[in-house]
Amino acid sequence: MPEGGLAEAFGVTEEARAKINLALHVTGQRADGYHLLDMLVTFADCGDRLGFLPSQADTFTLSGRFGETLADDGGTNLVLRARDLLREAVGALAFPVHIHLQKNLPIASGIGGGSADAAATLRGLMRFWGMSLPVEALATLSLKLGADVPMCLESRPLIARGIGEQIEPVPELPAFAIVLANPLKGVSTPEVFRRLPAKNNPPLNLASNLAGTADWLAAIGIARNDLEPPARELVPEISAISAMLQARGALLTRMSGSGATCFGIFTTMAAAQEAVTTLHGERPDWYFQATETVSGGA
Ligand code: C5P
Repeated sequence: MPEGGLAEAFGVTEEARAKINLALHVTGQRADGYHLLDMLVTFADCGDRLGFLPSQADTFTLSGRFGETLADDGGTNLVLRARDLLREAVGALAFPVHIHLQKNLPIASGIGGGSADAAATLRGLMRFWGMSLPVEALATLSLKLGADVPMCLESRPLIARGIGEQIEPVPELPAFAIVLANPLKGVSTPEVFRRLPAKNNPPLNLASNLAGTADWLAAIGIARNDLEPPARELVPEISAISAMLQARGALLTRMSGSGATCFGIFTTMAAAQEAVTTLHGERPDWYFQATETVSGGA
């Protein structure tokens, strides 16, 4: 499958946009071990792509820079789990489907690749099968696939609380020119949460912090990602990546999710693209991507 050729080859296609945690505060822990969070999340104009075609039997193929990495997962990937879960809910309507995943995002990298793929599978299959689930049922089903899947269904700027399922859109959030950077070392999300110190920094209330702000960069700047210190213990390159982004002109750098992807916010897309060219030269073996985030008003 040539890159970008999905739209011509498949009747139904979906974008699985990279998720970016502009801020992530850990505010507590549930009895079942899941952590309570307060997050400001946006989505990038880049990501994985999925295509859906009628088929004699359910089939699944992969392409893209990181397709081969996912091929070895023994069939446990979230696209197939999302397909099977939706089929259970839909019954006879759910005729066999060929799904193609163009895997452009690094795996286990804190930008929600797997969650975005699962959400895009749900969106795509509802269109493909000509059905929709009531909002509540879809929310419950998507949460079964992972804490980040409900917000990836939205794919627009939002604040998420609880374990990620309490979602509030943030239409005022502007678009940002950013660079995503990853040393291509996968991070285990449970391992990062396990390493969190029992006592966190005082949680910031993101909603009240952001309300009416004119200076988004400053407001985001005083927030944090509480998962960054434990992730840095596992992947020391995260510190180097932040320094490299800053040296190339990033106004603000931070890790996304449980890492190891960091983002840098730049003044313009031209500045972000120039930074990526330089960074590729410095570390050709790492992942760098210039992209614009979606604006809240989109
Ligand atoms: O829901 P998801 O599969 O993305 O979560 C992976 C793991 O990350 C969970 O099993 C849990 O250990 C940890 N986690 C957590 N609190 C969250 C989300 C995830 O502790 N809010």
